[in-house]
Amino acid sequence: MVHRIINKTIVLMAFLFVASLQSCYYDNEEDLYPQPPPCDTSFITYSESVWPVINDNCTNCHSGSAPAGNISLSNYDEIVASANNGSLLGTIRHDAGWSPMPKGGAKLPDCDIKKIEMWVADGSPDN
Ligand code: HEC
Repeated sequence: MVHRIINKTIVLMAFLFVASLQSCYYDNEEDLYPQPPPCDTSFITYSESVWPVINDNCTNCHSGSAPAGNISLSNYDEIVASANNGSLLGTIRHDAGWSPMPKGGAKLPDCDIKKIEMWVADGSPDN
């Protein structure tokens, strides 16, 4: 009888030991301090990588009959024009000499900026 209780105690302690190792295992840096998801730049297109970002962050001011700063970004041709004169990247990267965009809002996520940079470097394809 005593023997069986000791056996059970050993099993319980072994279980607790393993459980404590598990909790150590899960206390890793990524879970305690979540890292941003990796930036996937393997497949960049205008329709998937550029237009959604502009449409979500810019067109509320830069479209319509009286676009802010008289700059419209409501279609491919207009966005390419801003890409070609440097203002698109200058404003979203907050480069010196450009008015930082989106105006009055947080800077775009680095991953979005990186994708737009790569799209421009690729010649701003309409894909
Ligand atoms: C809340 C309104 C608003 C939003 C949102 C906004 N803009 Fe602007 N933008 C302006 C205004 C107003 C100007 C005129 C210049 C100024 O007042 O800074 C401007 C100017 C610009 C210019 C010309 C800047 C220059 O220095 O010549 C570009 C390019 C531009 N915006 C791009 C963008 C892009 C790209 C986004 C989205 C990432 C965006 N804007 C979001 C209001 C906005």
